[in-house]
Amino acid sequence: MLSWREVPGLVSDDECETLQQLSKGKKCIEIGSWKGRTAACMATVAEDVIAIDTFKASTEPLPLLGQHQESFFTTLEEFSENIKGYKNINPCVGESKYFADLLPDGEFDLLFIDGMHTFPNVYEDVTLYISKLKDDGIIAFHDYFGNGLDGVTKTVDILFGKECIQQITRSLCWVYKRDFKKVGLATILTDGYVSYFTHFVNSIKRNCPEIMSLPMKIITGRFNEDLPLCSEEEKRNYIRQNGFSSGLSEANKSKIKRMFPNAEFKDIGLVERKANGLIPNPHYWQIESFNLSEYDKLIYVDSDILCLGDMTELLSFNYDMGVWGNGGYDYNYGVFTVGKKFLNRETYESILKLDPKEQNHHGCQDMLIDYFRDHMTILPKKFNYMSTWLTMNPLPEDIVLLHYIYKPDTQFGRERLPHHAIKLWEEYE
Ligand SMILES: C[S@@+](CC[C@H](N)C(=O)[O-])C[C@H]1O[C@@H](n2cnc3c(N)ncnc32)[C@H](O)[C@@H]1O
Repeated sequence: MLSWREVPGLVSDDECETLQQLSKGKKCIEIGSWKGRTAACMATVAEDVIAIDTFKASTEPLPLLGQHQESFFTTLEEFSENIKGYKNINPCVGESKYFADLLPDGEFDLLFIDGMHTFPNVYEDVTLYISKLKDDGIIAFHDYFGNGLDGVTKTVDILFGKECIQQITRSLCWVYKRDFKKVGLATILTDGYVSYFTHFVNSIKRNCPEIMSLPMKIITGRFNEDLPLCSEEEKRNYIRQNGFSSGLSEANKSKIKRMFPNAEFKDIGLVERKANGLIPNPHYWQIESFNLSEYDKLIYVDSDILCLGDMTELLSFNYDMGVWGNGGYDYNYGVFTVGKKFLNRETYESILKLDPKEQNHHGCQDMLIDYFRDHMTILPKKFNYMSTWLTMNPLPEDIVLLHYIYKPDTQFGRERLPHHAIKLWEEYE
């Protein structure tokens, strides 16, 4: 029987020793075993180790060693030889996503993730397997410091936060299950804005594809024609300006699902705001995002936005309320990040009780500014850059989210935007 130190592998001796401290006497799951080094290292001290791998990874010393997948087994034979005698290793041969359902929930102490290092894969491994751990369970990750791919770093920073990392040994880090944050996005959408949303998703796919792994709540509803505050003229004006009246058609819902498979719809139906007299204007539906208590962290984005850079940085902030603004009532809630403290029914209901002031095109923004006045952390401008700030100069390079990206065929599109910004719309058609 080989000692773990004799088994070839991609994890250094001192990282293996940290893994042993975490796995001693414990029930462990490993995703990514390659030739068996870390499995053997943990099995030397652990109660048992489930070792999951396709066993089809490259064995050549490539820059991304152990990542590229072949169509045939590459390491299975060597792995089986190397772990001979380790009776407490249970190999599972195949892609990690196929084994999660077969393992019991709440029974394991340690999940060691060292599989495919792209963001969608690491994100999937964490979200599929975290329920397998006991409440005081631990998740360890290899290659937190890159190795050419940043999927591990992004997953740890977004789902747990840098500040929750308990220890880093070289490139191995570990966190507690209890620090896991369910992260999602939310937007408001009605039929009139679907073309904006299409451009937004196209820009995400090109400039920040990681976002496609996350759930996105699409908040929608319908125009309530019974409300006393809503005169016929107001209704006509809103419909003319905002192109809404009927919520989201089934055809548009299917279109959105095809574009963004992780989209989930929260249809708030005919919006009842009679108690505080709010016009059932989608500009007020942002308030619904505070009722998404299934999340620990939420990024709200208006749909008339283009993503031009890496918006995952926004997801790694752990602010109670993060928003861009200059003080007073000069804040813009077209983009905001909100943490657990304010993602609950109580916050939602307290905001609804506020006086909506005069109806204006900012919708509930002034209410949100009043409510969060003492809790706002100012986001860098690049996360909510107003298209009206653009001049004839080239676009500033660091813009991540460009807001108020008007359709070129609308009045604002023609009058307010310089030519190069209008061209952006066409680029993401
Ligand atoms: C960096 S290596 C693991 C190194 C190993 N822990 C060691 O001790 O040397 C990554 C492994 O993850 C495996 N892998 C990649 N994608 C996977 C997936 N979707 N499911 C299961 N294993 C996967 C690869 O086949 C490869 O063997």
